[in-house]
Amino acid sequence: MKKYNIAVIAGDGIGPEVIGEAVKVLKAICASDDRFDMCFTEFPWGCEYYLKNGEMMPENGLELLSKYDAILLGAVGYPGVPDHISLRNLLLKIRHGFDQYINLRPVRLLKGAPCPLAGKSCEDIDMIFIRENSEGEYSGSGAWLYKDQPNEVVIQNSVFSRKGCERVIRYAYELARKEGRSLTSVSKANALNYSMVFWDQIFEEVGREYPDVETRHLLVDAASMFMVRDPKRFGVVVTSNLFGDILTDLGAAISGGMGLAAGANLNPERRYPSMFEAIHGSAPDIAGQNIANPLASIWTAGQMLDFFGYEDWGTKIVDSIEQMLVSKKALTPDLGGSASTTECGDEMVRILTQ
Ligand code: NAD
Ligand code: IPM
Ligand code: MN
Repeated sequence: MKKYNIAVIAGDGIGPEVIGEAVKVLKAICASDDRFDMCFTEFPWGCEYYLKNGEMMPENGLELLSKYDAILLGAVGYPGVPDHISLRNLLLKIRHGFDQYINLRPVRLLKGAPCPLAGKSCEDIDMIFIRENSEGEYSGSGAWLYKDQPNEVVIQNSVFSRKGCERVIRYAYELARKEGRSLTSVSKANALNYSMVFWDQIFEEVGREYPDVETRHLLVDAASMFMVRDPKRFGVVVTSNLFGDILTDLGAAISGGMGLAAGANLNPERRYPSMFEAIHGSAPDIAGQNIANPLASIWTAGQMLDFFGYEDWGTKIVDSIEQMLVSKKALTPDLGGSASTTECGDEMVRILTQ
């Protein structure tokens, strides 16, 4: 039997509530499958930890995590600690430190999920976002000069390396080929005359190796408009770090909401652990009430099972979420139900193990 060691960083706000349900579901799956087992180790890192210890995680945090097969993360960030400190020193430190350069975010309208777009159905909204996750606008490079003086200047650099662009674009081409889907690159070369011209050039260069993949290209402003007006035109989508962040929240909005939006931070070479976390944040407005929707985190746990090679379970989890949406049973308030976070997780366990 294969044994996996999973590091759990529940984090802040609704993080512990939703990740608790994801772990519950994974434990139930382990109990019913004799191919593998999982051991979960919790790391109490986050904003509370920062307020006590002056750091988001210990200095050797990455070294501690490097021994695990994967990381499950709830959410990071809470009022009282500036976001640029909490996120940069925990979430982004892990993504960058472990070279998790692929952020894979499905934008898929499941049957029964609410959709604010008139006349759109499940066949229309089914995309996979591949967001660059290790550099770009999130490189963290810049300077703050002449602080608090009249000539104060801030510089925030975007970093687009040939290696960084090629590998994420290649990953997207491979996925599009494997899935038999079109590939859309989203960029903005009309205004960003270095970074995005370079991105477009690399998209074309790498594309020469994939003549069988149908490609499209959109400027990010038009892409956001088409995601609302004509989402069917998107299959696999590849884009930069910042654009991918924004477009996948829009993706969540058209496919059932933040409570259903899953994502995986992958180091495809498996040199470092990959990290599985829903797209949403710590939702301070509903934290501590046991009403957050845990389905996004549970779907994310399914992505982890996919990554380990148990795609049967990944599929079963998505099918079970769909079953809950269709039957409207044990749904949380964001989906129009009155179930608690815990009841929603319990129902998922019941369906998966029946
Ligand atoms: P958010 O995603 O936390 O919340 C946006 C809205 O969606 C809120 O109304 C919230 O109640 C709702 N929502 C989110 N997840 C939900 C769920 N599972 N069930 C039901 N409703 C849900 O975004 P925000 O308010 O902009 O950010 C709050 C904090 O989280 C900030 O500190 C931000 O920096 C951080 N953040 C962290 C991550 C992460 O850890 N991956 C992602 C995004 C934001
Ligand atoms: C996300 C979040 C993060 C991001 C923030 C919290 C740094 O919004 O995972 O989508 O922008 O990557
Ligand atoms: Mn985001």
